[in-house]
Amino acid sequence: MRDSTGEPAEHPRAAEEPRDIEDIGSNPAPSDPIGAILGRRLARRSALRGLFGAGVALGGGATGLRDASAGEEGGSPSTLGFRGLPHGKGPEEAVAEGHEIQVVIRWGDPVLPGAPPFDPAAQSPAAQALQFGYNNDYLEFFPLPKGGEGEHGLLVVNHEYTNPELMFPGLGDARAARLGTSAMQVATEMMAHGASVVEIRREGGRAGGRWAPVAESALNRRITAETPMRVSGPAAGHERLRTSADPAGKMVLGTLNNCAGGNTPWGTVLIAEENFNYYFGGPGVETGDQAASYKRYGLVRDAQFPWGRHVPRFDVASEPNEPNRFGWVVEFDPYDPGSVPVKRTALGRFKHEGCTHAVSADGRVAIYMGDDERFDYVYRFVTARPWDREEPARNRDLLDEGTLSVARFHDDGTLLWLPLVHGEGPLVEANGFRSQGDVVIEARRAADLLGATPMDRPEDVQANPVNGRVYVMLTNNGNRTVARADAANPRANNIHGHVIEIIPPSGPGGVDHAAAGARWEPFLMAGRPGSDPGASYHRAVGPDAGWLSCPDNCAFDSKGRIWIATDGAPTAAGVADGLYAADTEGEGRALTRRFYAAPQGAEVCGPLIGPGDRTVFLAIQHPGEDRGSSFDAPSTRWPDFVAGMPPRPAVIAIVKRDGGTVGS
Ligand code: FEO
Ligand code: CA
Ligand code: CA
Repeated sequence: MRDSTGEPAEHPRAAEEPRDIEDIGSNPAPSDPIGAILGRRLARRSALRGLFGAGVALGGGATGLRDASAGEEGGSPSTLGFRGLPHGKGPEEAVAEGHEIQVVIRWGDPVLPGAPPFDPAAQSPAAQALQFGYNNDYLEFFPLPKGGEGEHGLLVVNHEYTNPELMFPGLGDARAARLGTSAMQVATEMMAHGASVVEIRREGGRAGGRWAPVAESALNRRITAETPMRVSGPAAGHERLRTSADPAGKMVLGTLNNCAGGNTPWGTVLIAEENFNYYFGGPGVETGDQAASYKRYGLVRDAQFPWGRHVPRFDVASEPNEPNRFGWVVEFDPYDPGSVPVKRTALGRFKHEGCTHAVSADGRVAIYMGDDERFDYVYRFVTARPWDREEPARNRDLLDEGTLSVARFHDDGTLLWLPLVHGEGPLVEANGFRSQGDVVIEARRAADLLGATPMDRPEDVQANPVNGRVYVMLTNNGNRTVARADAANPRANNIHGHVIEIIPPSGPGGVDHAAAGARWEPFLMAGRPGSDPGASYHRAVGPDAGWLSCPDNCAFDSKGRIWIATDGAPTAAGVADGLYAADTEGEGRALTRRFYAAPQGAEVCGPLIGPGDRTVFLAIQHPGEDRGSSFDAPSTRWPDFVAGMPPRPAVIAIVKRDGGTVGS
């Protein structure tokens, strides 16, 4: 979902879009949090001038930052083999030469048997429940057969949210549409949320072969805002999860605002609920004993997606506990279309961006997570037990037991993981935490009390399988002031964002992703090199190409190179959102190069490197989401470009025309 700050004339949607709430931030005292104070204590003398100083190497050698004036491409030290796209903005999409864009599946395309073909004039909840959902985000690929390495598998896709102004005729712009949807239209939107599982295959050989869905696959699945799912872990059955429809507090209808996600070593997928607050509203938000908690999670009386007008459970006065049943990580088995998804509450409740794993040296599994809000935190969950490679069934509930921690970044380049454990430190009854269930339901408040470091909107937090380092996408934070700056968030009015690298300790057995501490280093500061002091550390080709703004999601290829997708760049940076690649090691480290540019109004989500590095899959989200853009007068009709057909969020596959590896 887009969350740009200071939205401007050409992308002025901020005034009418849900991202307004994120712009505010709901951390009550971010200017003076314990974490910032503790972090600064070590600081000024070394960090701000040392860690992010242009041209100053950190820890020696190839990990150091270098000034952006370093050249690229002709004589470039980068291992990337493609010529980067020049800086600039559409309106149409573009990809590096030698590559081809294939549309794999679009909103409304049939997924389940019996699905009608998409007809924008004949939408219904029943049809949408069988069709591909809206606003695709996270992508994951599960090979067929299991463990296979061919270009055939299950594509898992999140459907984060809906744009009714672009889905239905006659509703006007975004704000009018959200207030004007009928009960039938809201029911259709609910069916357009959730996730899809789609069997796909590349046919026709590598050179010239095309990715396409396998029609009516028995493995296909739709998960929606009404799919029953089990609650497990410390909050299961908690009194604050009980509702009139579910007095036991153990079975929830649906999943909402699934942004990014992750997978597990035992072959399941994790989908992460992000801006769940947008769906809940009414006067009940401001009253009662949960009002402070609602506020910390960003609920407001006038919900951004006011479904409560038609569906009582989204009206907080009707169901005060319903919001507590969202904001979780959901696990399901993509290979079993009948499996019941599970909300894993041990991983905490916040605005989860993603949840990617790394197996620690002792076999325990670490899940890294960002809470995407200004001045919110980076989290890690570590399973209590190692995962069982021999007996996959023993991993079934592995995510129910373990330790959730939150990061405090010290200015000296060290990091502490602070455990969110009931009974320890401030997480006691005197502060309203009577159980671990209370701690995970109010994970944000628990992290506040522990002194976590408020960050510049943590999005993907993902381990590089080649070098074991963990990369934190910090998308932007226009509300950061000089007084609030620290070493890990060094730039005031940080409208372009940055990327941090966490370096866990290593031993003979491998990387210790369960350790209590780590080191961290800056990886890149985004923004146009030379345009402002904070942007001068970006190792891009120069001021006219290669530099990115608003890093959001990322992926790694088999060489350990990072591929970064952006969200929110167009306004501040004069460049379409897109996909950028860079080395993470050596002389080409952090020298980003622009690979793909999104169509008008869209962001790029879910970068997924396909089998053999021969494909990059991308989820192109909210094409045409521009001020004044509507179904009747959209700013683009991507990807069909057919009169009368609205823009359609779609998954694309980018392949090399010669069948080689992408980016080569
Ligand atoms: Fe759904 Fe934080 O982007
Ligand atoms: Ca986004
Ligand atoms: Ca995102």
